[in-house]
Amino acid sequence: MTPAMKNVTKTIVLLPGDGIGPEVIRAAAGILETCAAEFGHRFELPEFPIGGTAIDATGAPLPPETLEACKTADAILLGAVGGPRWDALPLGRRPESGLLALRKGLELYVNLRPIRLLEPLLFVSPLKPGRAGRIDLEIVRELAGGIYFGAHGIETVNRNVSPAATDSEERGFDTETYTTGEIERIATFAFGRAESRSRRLTSVDKANVLASSALWRKTVTRLAAGHTGVTVGHMYVDNAAMQLILAPEQFDVLVASNLFGDILSDAAAGLVGSIGLVPSMSCGFGPPLYEPIHGSAPQLAGRDSANPIGAILCASLMLRETFGLAAEAEWIERALDHVLARGFRTADIAEPESSVVGCSALTQLIREEMQASLEQVERYGWGV
Ligand code: IPM
Ligand code: MG
Repeated sequence: MTPAMKNVTKTIVLLPGDGIGPEVIRAAAGILETCAAEFGHRFELPEFPIGGTAIDATGAPLPPETLEACKTADAILLGAVGGPRWDALPLGRRPESGLLALRKGLELYVNLRPIRLLEPLLFVSPLKPGRAGRIDLEIVRELAGGIYFGAHGIETVNRNVSPAATDSEERGFDTETYTTGEIERIATFAFGRAESRSRRLTSVDKANVLASSALWRKTVTRLAAGHTGVTVGHMYVDNAAMQLILAPEQFDVLVASNLFGDILSDAAAGLVGSIGLVPSMSCGFGPPLYEPIHGSAPQLAGRDSANPIGAILCASLMLRETFGLAAEAEWIERALDHVLARGFRTADIAEPESSVVGCSALTQLIREEMQASLEQVERYGWGV
């Protein structure tokens, strides 16, 4: 792999958010800074509030200035949102609604979640090594539709338990809808990913029960006719959850609705050792948004013990997928692998003989490893 060595200038809007968000974003920003310094790139990293922090500062989980800044960015890097401090707020005003409004506002309908077992973490996976050996899959989650964005609410209805009953009760409802067009665009992206990998696509649905899933399956089946190089399988979501645990190596690319993709990606993250390890990329019409798939982990916040790897892998995913800087991305990932192989770990992925370090110390070790490996490149050439 040869570095492109062009002097790239980019604006990456940072949205640290809540809980451990600021700590992991600081880590990823540090990696981007090392990358810029070593390769002569220029990354502007302006910060804006989102989530609970934004509610406290401005009253809104997605202030208009934040959305505006994101709309003109080259890419966005977000930490996490939410926390007990804001749990009593009604659904539409909680920190999470800021994130949903951002995804919707930027029309990001694709969410890609690469799930790869890092070699040094083979024994951290809860699976037996024989089963865990080749976990390398991508979950393509639909992000702008489905039950997250359908009509929902809580209404008062008559209690319906007996004909004589006169008292009332509440009824909560959420609506799952998908149009042909919404399914086509996410499936088309997933076919493209499969074509660039092992050409196997598993479409996840619940077509034995849900009408939206029946349309999903019909649409994916029709598109498959135009992608004859890809082997397409369909799986009910309950079975997919079990198959992920029993035989994850059968999967290459999975495509799923917003809700099913959210759930399956946490399960898959568990297989590779920690939810703190998985990055994601959201794309569509607006600038791409990168966020680790973990939450704000309020119990860890401010203790410098969060795992920064999900956020750091967001930085490398961004460099590769959005900026075309594949050599830089590989350089970061190799440095990370080396540091893990030397036994340095955050607490969530520690083994008995590991050296447990905090979020900032692990990040510093990775930055030093990046610098050391570049010195080696200068001496012996790239690719050693
Ligand atoms: C995720 C998270 C979010 C989601 C929450 C925080 C709204 O779980 O990105 O996976 O459900 O999309
Ligand atoms: Mg989730």
